[in-house]
This record gives sequence, C-alpha cells and structure tokens, in this order.
Amino acid sequence: MITRTAQRFATLRFMFENRRHFGDFIHAMKHDANPIWRAPGRWHDADIQRYTGMISGVVGDFAEIGVFEGETFAKLIPIAQRQRKSIHAFDSFQGMDDPSEFDWRPKGQFAVGGEDGFRKLMSKRGFERHQYSTWEGFIPECFVKAPRDISFSFVLLDVDNYQPTRIGLDWAWSRLNVNGVMALDDFYPNGDREASKAIKEFLRERTDFDIVDFVNFQLALRKMG
Ligand SMILES: C[S@@+](CC[C@H](N)C(=O)[O-])C[C@H]1O[C@@H](n2cnc3c(N)ncnc32)[C@H](O)[C@@H]1O
Repeated sequence: MITRTAQRFATLRFMFENRRHFGDFIHAMKHDANPIWRAPGRWHDADIQRYTGMISGVVGDFAEIGVFEGETFAKLIPIAQRQRKSIHAFDSFQGMDDPSEFDWRPKGQFAVGGEDGFRKLMSKRGFERHQYSTWEGFIPECFVKAPRDISFSFVLLDVDNYQPTRIGLDWAWSRLNVNGVMALDDFYPNGDREASKAIKEFLRERTDFDIVDFVNFQLALRKMG
C-alpha cells in the first residue's frame, strides 16, 4: 500500500516534471499554503464558488457529468441560475458501468434508481424538474441525447472510471467555450488507472489549457483560445 508520504512525493515529482503547467502549485504543496481542509472525493464550496466565479462572463451552460445523489449539483443550480444559464446532469443514474481493466468499482455502484430516483432526490433538496435538465444513459449514450449545439462555460466531470472519463473529457472539452472551466475529480498524478489515466492522457495530448487549480486531487482547467 502506498503511504501518504510516498504519494505526496510522487505527486510533487509529477508536478515538477510538468512544471510548465503546475509551477504555481508546487510551492503551495511544499508549504501547505492552502489551509482549508477538504474531504477527499467531495467538492468544497469555496472551490465551486471560485471556479464558477471565473466563468460568470463566459457564455454557455453548466454541466455536471456524474452527479450521484446530487449533492454537488444542488450547489451548482443556484449559481447557474444567478448567471442566467441552463444546467445539465449527465449520468446513467444506474451507477457505474462494467469496469475496464484499469478500474475496480463494480457495475451498479452509485445507482440512484434511474432518472426518476435522481429527480426525487433533487426534489427533497428543494429543486423542481424545470430548474435543470437530465440526460440519462451510460456514457456516451447520455451525450448523444443532448442537443447537438450545446456548449458550456462550466463542466464538472466526476465519473471515476477510465473509459467514461476519457470519453467525457473529449466530448465536453470540445463543447467548452474559450475561458470556460472544467473541474475534474480523482486526479492522482502518480496513478495510472481509473480517471487519473484518462486525465494524464488528456494533459499529454492537449496544449489549449491552463491549470487554474489542483487541490484535494481535483484539477481545474481553463480552456485557452
Ligand atoms: C463519484 S459519483 C459522482 C459524485 C458527484 N459528482 C458529487 O459530487 O456528489 C460518480 C457518478 O458517475 C456516474 N457514472 C459512472 N460511470 C458512468 C458511465 N459510464 N456513464 C454514466 N454515468 C456514470 C455514476 O452513476 C455516479 O453517479
């Protein structure tokens, strides 16, 4: 099992090797400059506020790809409304698909009882169905159902596994407007499996991004012109 120190060291090494992108964050990691504690795997309110604040002047809808029970989605709806933008939830609503050789989560984990189950959960959180759109299906089926001309100013991608993250990155990035932000969960720079593998491939292949944050193993990218 990899220890916390080893993981921290591997992370710093990856960031140093890629200091063209990660330079600003190396100092913060070395010196623990960021004092806000974050729960692993959860999206901290302050981070969501910051990323969405950066794109208030960018046209395009909000999307969360991988919404589970809507905890983060419920935070995004009022922000999208304040910015007068539509917001979309993309998910199987039946949990994980079959894992690839790079994944371990079992099929069906995070199931919420289909689209109706998700809508019931959102209703308990105080949101009615006209306040957001849902696109149901295993990736890429849910993407195919969305309007062809959809474009985004903010995308949060959080589907854990390699293949859906890889497809989701390419699909959503090509629909993200310039200066839009994409926030990615589960980026372990020393990892070569699951979402980390997909994100590393994406970072290697593209140059049209700027890393705006890397904290709590969550990476935020801004699309460059
Ligand atoms: C970790 S949960 C997302 C947590 C959520 N972003 C939050 O902050 O509360 C992962 C979600 O991705 C969805 N998901 C995983 N693989 C998928 C796939 N291949 N197609 C569609 N949805 C998928 C699951 O159904 C689940 O809702």
